[in-house]
Amino acid sequence: MTKLTGKVALVTGSGRGIGRAIALKLASEGAKVVVNDLDAAPGDAVAAEIVAAGGQAVAVNGSVSEAGFPDRFVGAAMERFGGLDIVVNNAGYTWDATIQKMTDEQFQAMLDVHLVAPFRILRAAAEPIRIMAKKEAEEGREVFRKVVNISSIAGLYGNAGQASYSAAKASLIGLTRTLCKEWGRYKVNVNCVAFGLINTRLTQPIEKQQKTIDVAGRDIKVGVQPQMLEAMGRMIPLGRGGTPEEAADSVYLFCSPESNYISGQVVVCGGGLIL
Ligand SMILES: NC(=O)c1ccc[n+]([C@@H]2O[C@H](COP(=O)([O-])OP(=O)(O)OC[C@H]3O[C@@H](n4cnc5c(N)ncnc54)[C@H](O)[C@@H]3O)[C@@H](O)[C@H]2O)c1
Repeated sequence: MTKLTGKVALVTGSGRGIGRAIALKLASEGAKVVVNDLDAAPGDAVAAEIVAAGGQAVAVNGSVSEAGFPDRFVGAAMERFGGLDIVVNNAGYTWDATIQKMTDEQFQAMLDVHLVAPFRILRAAAEPIRIMAKKEAEEGREVFRKVVNISSIAGLYGNAGQASYSAAKASLIGLTRTLCKEWGRYKVNVNCVAFGLINTRLTQPIEKQQKTIDVAGRDIKVGVQPQMLEAMGRMIPLGRGGTPEEAADSVYLFCSPESNYISGQVVVCGGGLIL
C-alpha cells in the first residue's frame, strides 16, 4: 500500500513542468490521475507515462478557462475512476509587463487562468464532494479530501512586471482560505503552495533571443535574464532554484494523510527565499 492508494487526483496543467512532476508523484504514491493540459500532446504523454509505469490515468485536455471544462474535468474523475479526492490547481503561465504597458487583455488573461479557472473547477467539484462527504458521515467515516492551489511568492510579496499575475496569485490565497472555512464540514483540507524560483520553461534563462511559449496560438514572452537568475541564486538561502520534482514534493505533503489536520495554509516552496 502506498500513501494515496485508491485516491483520485485531478491536476491541471500537468503536461509539463511542475504539474507533470505532481501528476507523476501522486501516481507513484498510488493515485489515479486525471491529467490536463492546454496542449494535448504533452497531456496525453504524461497520462501514457503513468499507465506505462503500471498506474491509472486519463487525459482531459483543453484550456482550464474554456466554458464547460470544469464539468468535463470533474465528470471524467467521477465517471472513469468513481471518485474525486485531490484537486491541484496548477495550470498557468506568466504574461508580464509594467503597469503602463499592460493591456486589459493581459490583465484579464492572468485572472482567468490563475483565479477564475480554479474557482470554477472547485465549484464544479462542490456537489460531488458534498454528496460523497454526506454518505461517509452517515457511515461514521472521516475521509479527508485535498485541494492544493498553486500560488507564487509574487502573490505574497509582489513582483515588478507582474501586476496581473501577482494580483491573481494573491487572490487565489483568498479563495483558498474561504474554501477552507466552507469545506471543513466536508473534511476537505484546502491549502496553497507558493513557489519561489522553480526551473521550468517559464523561468529558463534568456540567452541571445527572448524565449516565447505558444498559449492557444499567442506567442507569450517568458524566461528570465541570466543576471537576474544569478542574483536570485544568491538571494535563495539554499543557493539555487528548485527542480519540478522538489516542487511536486511540497504539493504532495498537502495531499498526504499527514496533512489531515492542516487547512487554510500557505507554504512557500522556495529554498528559503523571501522577497
Ligand atoms: N516556475 C516557477 O518558478 C513558478 C513560480 C511560482 C509559481 N509557479 C506556478 O506554477 C504553475 C506551473 O508552472 P510551471 O513553471 O510548471 O510552468 P510550465 O510552463 O512548465 O507548465 C505549465 C503547464 O500549464 C499548461 N497551461 C497553461 N495554461 C493553461 C490553460 N489555460 N489550461 C490548461 N493548461 C494550461 C501549459 O501548457 C504547461 O504545460 C503555474 O501556475 C505557475 O504560475 C511557477
